[in-house]
Amino acid sequence: MDTADTTGPTGTAALPRPFDAAFFADPYPVYARLRAAGSVHRIALPDGSPVWLVTHEADVRAALTDPRLSVNKAHSTNGYQGFALPPALDANLLNIDPADHLRLRRLVSKGFTPRRVEDLRGRVQGAADRLAVALAGRIAAGGSADLVTEFANPLPLTVIGDLLGVPEADRRPFSADVGTMLAPERPAQIGEAVGRIHRFLLDLVAARRAAPADDLLSALIAARDDGDRLGEDELVSLAFLILMAGSENAQHLISGGLLTLLGHPDQLDALRADPALWPAAVEELMRHGHPNQMAVRRFPVEPVEIGGTLIPPGDTVLLCLASAHRDPARYPDPDRFDVHRADKAHLALGQGMHYCLGAPLARMETGIALATLLRRLPGIALAVPPGELRWRASFRSHALRELPVTVAGRPGGRGR
Ligand code: HEM
Repeated sequence: MDTADTTGPTGTAALPRPFDAAFFADPYPVYARLRAAGSVHRIALPDGSPVWLVTHEADVRAALTDPRLSVNKAHSTNGYQGFALPPALDANLLNIDPADHLRLRRLVSKGFTPRRVEDLRGRVQGAADRLAVALAGRIAAGGSADLVTEFANPLPLTVIGDLLGVPEADRRPFSADVGTMLAPERPAQIGEAVGRIHRFLLDLVAARRAAPADDLLSALIAARDDGDRLGEDELVSLAFLILMAGSENAQHLISGGLLTLLGHPDQLDALRADPALWPAAVEELMRHGHPNQMAVRRFPVEPVEIGGTLIPPGDTVLLCLASAHRDPARYPDPDRFDVHRADKAHLALGQGMHYCLGAPLARMETGIALATLLRRLPGIALAVPPGELRWRASFRSHALRELPVTVAGRPGGRGR
């Protein structure tokens, strides 16, 4: 896991920097331009560090399962700048290659069972109902409300917090620190936020060790596999990854998903007429506009050819999932959002050994969240013109900072 830094290595000044303010608001024209010019591009990130950006679907798909591409930062030798995470936060699944990864994933799977996830369905629905009613109340009182603060952020945070066993009072501060870490206003804020996150998780693991409860963290502490068990750093960094991955992506998919649906009234009508379309709609939302633009960075352990370009070992490779999803060579009319699309397969949850651990939960909570919103607030509408929406300044996640909503017919309502 990584984020922007302030300084870049020398010698990268001449590289193109496609990730600018216009990109943050709408990355898709940039991807289209890059794809048309070729699959693999040597570019500089906003922090100046050089990366290879892979944009064609076939190449992204193949690279996700290429064993010569390591996720372990130890294989990075050319200018990769992530943020300095303490080892206790970095010993997680997304920084580990095959043998260790398999061991860790087997242990995690002992706690993160499909039954534990399915048992959550009623709680997800209950939380979605409560938050939607509260959101409706806010709109009734004030004319409009921010869907991100009132619904899209708290729902996944409640679900993953309940699952993992995080006390309610600690959830929002954790989420705020993750937001700061991923998109700081000042670089110094990153270290401060990471420090708070680390201390909080150390305390949480210690508390569960002392008094186990019926939650995932206690199950992970107790998990055994042929006498093997998770070490302290592994536990802390797994809790970090699960809390962060479990809240960040889902919350942006819910807010971005609602925005997409509101912009496609014909699709919304189709969903209202036939709720059985929801699973297909969630898949199409994940393809068309899911927030996670890039897979986790990879480092070749030997020279690797991708899309006709030979990439040296130790360089940084970014596999652009969002570009792959709009590749016309794979998807007919790829920019069209269509819940009836025949080819629903996508890479939004990854592929191969790093396939998203929380995929069933992500699908379930996105569907429940959006269906509940539209059922409880049938007239929900944007409260500002789309051009006034504010997006996170990040090339990794295409994420709304806020989504002011109202209900149609209210002053300020913009219809559907
Ligand atoms: C809409 C929501 C989500 C999206 C779009 C998403 C996306 C992804 C993607 C693309 C990867 C693979 C990264 C790579 O190979 O570079 C991944 C891995 C992972 N995700 Fe998710 N995720 C979501 C929700 C969740 C949830 C709810 C959880 C936890 C409960 C979770 C936990 C994880 C973990 C632990 C991994 C690492 C798996 C491994 O390396 O073995 N994710 N996710």
